[in-house]
Parts: sequence; C-alpha cells; structure tokens
Amino acid sequence: MLILAFDTATAWGRFALAEDGVLLASLPHNVSGSYADALLPVVQRLLTQGGRRLDEVDAIGVTCGPGSFTGVRIGLATAKGLAWALGARLLPVSTLAAMAAALLADWPDRDLAVPILDARRDEVFAAVYRRRDGWVEPVAAPAALPAQVWWERVTAVVPAPDAAVWGGNGVALVVGEGPSLRPDLLSRGEPVLRAWTAAHPATAQAIAVAAADPQAGLADVHPFRAVPLYLRASEAEVKRRLDLTPAAPDLARLDDAAVARLVIRPGREADLPLVERIERDSFGDPWPTAALRDELNQDPLRRPLVAEREGRVIGYLMAWRAGDELHVLNLAVAPDERRRGTGTRLLEAALAAAIADGLRLATLEVRIGNAPARSFYVRHGFVESGRRLRYYRDTGEDALIMTRPLAGGRSPGPA
Ligand SMILES: CC(C)(COP(=O)(O)OP(=O)(O)OC[C@H]1O[C@@H](n2cnc3c(N)ncnc32)[C@H](O)[C@@H]1OP(=O)(O)O)[C@@H](O)C(=O)NCCC(=O)NCCS
Repeated sequence: MLILAFDTATAWGRFALAEDGVLLASLPHNVSGSYADALLPVVQRLLTQGGRRLDEVDAIGVTCGPGSFTGVRIGLATAKGLAWALGARLLPVSTLAAMAAALLADWPDRDLAVPILDARRDEVFAAVYRRRDGWVEPVAAPAALPAQVWWERVTAVVPAPDAAVWGGNGVALVVGEGPSLRPDLLSRGEPVLRAWTAAHPATAQAIAVAAADPQAGLADVHPFRAVPLYLRASEAEVKRRLDLTPAAPDLARLDDAAVARLVIRPGREADLPLVERIERDSFGDPWPTAALRDELNQDPLRRPLVAEREGRVIGYLMAWRAGDELHVLNLAVAPDERRRGTGTRLLEAALAAAIADGLRLATLEVRIGNAPARSFYVRHGFVESGRRLRYYRDTGEDALIMTRPLAGGRSPGPA
C-alpha cells in the first residue's frame, strides 16, 4: 500500500511517502505565507523523489488540526480532493497525535508525549498522549488552553513530567531542564512558545508509516465527511457569528471545544433510552418505543445517526433510503442543546452519506406549524414541493413536503 502523507497545520510543512510501512521519501517544506501555491508542487517533488506516480497512491494521510486555520483548511481540502479523485483512502489525523507519534518514534524509551502548538491570543493547543500499538492514545484530550493553565493541566495528568517528551512548535526536548524552565516562563508571563526553537516533529513520516500498520488503527473517513479539528472558532468566524446576532450574541455557540467534542455516529439499539427521552421532550405525539427501536437498526434501508457529546446522546436523525432518495423521517435535538449546530451536523452527515452513495434527492415532511424546523430545513437548502392535507392525526395539521436535490440534481417544483 502506497501512502502519501502531509502536514500543513503549521508553518513547518512535512511531506512523506511510504510503501507498506517503509519510508520511500520525505521532504520538509516550511512556508512563510500560505500553502496554497506550494502544496501540490511539493507533493509532485516528493513523488518524483520516491519514484512513484500520483495515480499509484492508495491512501492519503493528513493532519486535520489543530493548527493554523488556513494551513489546516488547505491541507485537508487538498487531501479530500485528491482522495476523492484517486479513489484513495483518506486518513485524517489530529496534528497533536501525529506530533506525539513522531516524538515517541524518536524517543523509544519514553511512553508519554506532550505536543503543544502556539494557538496565539495567549493560548496553546495541547494534549498528552501515551504510546499505543504503533500509534498513540490521548491521556488528556486536545484542547485550546490559556498558556497560564496549560502547565497545571499537564502536571495533573503527567505524574512524572521528567519522563515525558515535549514537542511544541516544536522542539522535541526531554524534560530535564524543561520542567523548571517552563513554569518560570509562565510565571513571568512570557510567551512560552517563542522561547522554543522551531523544529516540528516528523509528523508526515509518522502518519505514512503507521497507516500501513493495522495495529495502529488509523481510521478511514469518507472524503465528504472529513472535517477540520479547529478546537476553537477562528477570529473571522467569531466576528461573523457576532455580526449575525449583533443584539444578543449566543456565547454558547462560540464554544468550539464543545462542538469539536460532538461526535456524529451510527445509532444503535443501546441508544434507545436517551433517544426516547429526546423524542418525548420534542414532540406532542412521540413515536412509540418499538418504532424508535426499529429505526435504530442499521440495515441497507435505515442509517440512523446520533449526536453524542461526552457519552450523552443529544440528538438523532432517522432516515430511509428509497430508490435514489433519502427520506428523513425524524430529527430532534435535546431542548437544552438546540441552536448550537447539532441539528446541522446531523443533517449534513446524513446528506453527505447520501451524496456519497449516489442518492439524488432528500425529502421530508414537516408540520406546517413547526416554524423552527421549517426555518432549519430552508437554511439547509430544502424547498417546499408539496403538501399533505390534514396529515397529522393529533392536530389535523397539514404536512409540508420539502425536498432538496443532492449532488447537482434539481428539486422538483411545487406540486
Ligand atoms: C429542528 C431541530 C432539529 C434543529 O436542531 P438545532 O440543533 O437546534 O439546529 P441548529 O443549531 O443546527 O440550527 C441551525 C439553523 O436552523 C434554524 N433554526 C433552528 N432552530 C430555530 C428556531 N427555533 N427558530 C428559527 N430558526 C431556527 C436557524 O436558521 C439556525 O441557525 P442560527 O441558530 O444561526 O439562526 C431542533 O429545533 C429540534 O429538535 N426541534 C424539535 C424536533 C423537530 O421539530 N424536528 C423536526 C421534525 S420535521
């Protein structure tokens, strides 16, 4: 298996090509501006150096953040485009995990790595990882933290910091001088990271080599579903959100760490109790338990999705595939979690999967009086295309049929 990997999440670009776990070529490519012009030419140089062609690549590994917003966006978008066009597997990996894996490859006698990146605005992106079967597992999850609290967090989870390996923007240094140095810098309020020499770990090499190792377990993601892991909102996004709601900015929506922790995954029967609770809290005529249980089965017809944060299911979407259409049957988010983007994430995931499977139209019915849901669907490109009179038995309300073309198709006009 030929693997191309690149990391453009920081100014220290890393590119690597490996076959079946053996490194064929690697290139550092540091940029001062953006990777927009440099990325593909560097990939071409790498392939030439390794004696391979792009159409031979079987998998593309890429860092998906955190890091520079532009670097992550360009790297991931390019990887997604290449994977889609080549029919290659896409393996997006957290930048911090890749740094930790690369650091531990250089320090075989260490088991913990503490990768850290300058997140600017007096914050750092940081995490703690432990070595595991050819790759790493998080001991402390990636987070954007004020530089002042970073050291406390690290010492809370790393009992013997001297035994850890550090990498940040990113020198790999064994903490010896380190632990005494870092708190000093922090207490003096100096920007910790500027004191470190710049030498990013060999992230791309670590990904390219681990990708062929089943034990390492790097997961494939469909190119339509891979999303950046920003860990917090960019300044532009914060401004845009504030502009949209100038009178009362919803601060809850700015918590991108919470959004990042939100996982959209296939539903299963074990989710029934929480799904049922949301259903009862959301609808005057909830579906019976048995119907919900049926819809939580994965089969060729049904592909239920749930949104989970920190072990709690906070939303779900149930849909059927009928011919080349996706019928969204049920979508709800726990009342205390609404207007924070969860419904959007669920719907986008269902639509992306439908597009990937070649479906051409998404359709659903919504109560005419359900203004929030109608507004939600309109925002997601659905248009009214018909009406079912007195469709809902409890209130005799009409149902609006709303549809949305998938992948370039056309929505049928109003019935
Ligand atoms: C419809 C529902 C699933 C939306 O989930 P959500 O997580 O709140 O949705 P999001 O946060 O992703 O909302 C995205 C957009 O939808 C629209 N929207 C969502 N709720 C809205 C509301 N109460 N009023 C007006 N617009 C709303 C807005 O355009 C919103 O963007 P904004 O917050 O930037 O203005 C949720 O409101 C819900 O569970 N409702 C009860 C169950 C239901 O009616 N399901 C639909 C059955 S067809």
